[in-house]
Amino acid sequence: MTTRILSTSPLVGSHLQDLGRRFPDLRIAPYRSPEWIAELSEAEALVVLLSEPVRESDLELAPRLKVIGTYSVGVNHLPREACERRGIRIVATPGVLTDATADLALTLLLAVTRRVSEGEALVRSGAWKGWAPDQILGTSLSGKTCGILGSGPIGKAFARRVWALGMKPVFWDRDGMGTPVDFGPDSARRLPLPELLPLCSVLSLHCPLTDQTRGLLDREALALLPAGAVIVNTARGGILDESAALERLHSGLLGGVGLDVYAGEPAVDPAWLTSPRTVLLPHLGSATRETREAMAQLLCEGITTALLS
Ligand code: DGY
Repeated sequence: MTTRILSTSPLVGSHLQDLGRRFPDLRIAPYRSPEWIAELSEAEALVVLLSEPVRESDLELAPRLKVIGTYSVGVNHLPREACERRGIRIVATPGVLTDATADLALTLLLAVTRRVSEGEALVRSGAWKGWAPDQILGTSLSGKTCGILGSGPIGKAFARRVWALGMKPVFWDRDGMGTPVDFGPDSARRLPLPELLPLCSVLSLHCPLTDQTRGLLDREALALLPAGAVIVNTARGGILDESAALERLHSGLLGGVGLDVYAGEPAVDPAWLTSPRTVLLPHLGSATRETREAMAQLLCEGITTALLS
């Protein structure tokens, strides 16, 4: 019997096809289609996207499963404990999307603070009457403090970027409290959340969604931010209480919000769509061709290793 790999997508580039040549029973079926569900019984490897949760009940239909590969660094959509109990490996794509995701967080930060969407809309509308001293004034970043939630590779890469802009990074993390974070050109303090939040002109999220971080930025935590603070989220929607953030934004207490991820994505709370001082992207953190190809390569290598071991 040949090894069956079941993927919901061909991914970007040719790595999955190459994998299919090596283990010649590669099936591609849309997530949760009748075909996908039927194929689970024979699958030894599953490939899914970050938007495609796998449940423990799926594992019950897949007695031959050895590995689940997710085309993402985040694994919050996978049943990790159930996989561990059943000896099913999880393969993700850490490392290769670090720069792309940090770049996108910086893009959001600059777009929000320099009011890029408003400026572009003005030019496109044809209503621009020319340069004016107080037209679409933004906020400077140099010299201000940037709180970074998560000191993993993406948090550190984001710290390098804001440091280069003259900002002062400070970290919160689940572990290592009290020890500084070396992010490359410098090191930064790691503080408990109640101490960090009041310092932040900017707060950027780079931690995984876990039971510990779900709802971490709730109403109470957001109230500790100084007036005018800007929030950027390229991590996972569930970490930020979006209703509380919307309330603060509408009462003028937040200076702006840049979002790439949403609690119920692809559904977006309609209140965001009409909110001022927001920049909203459709989960583009890792979306460069080079990055998506590198992710596919890493994923396929991990699946190969798991299948051959
Ligand atoms: C991931 O891969 O988990 C990230 O959300 C990409 O943006």
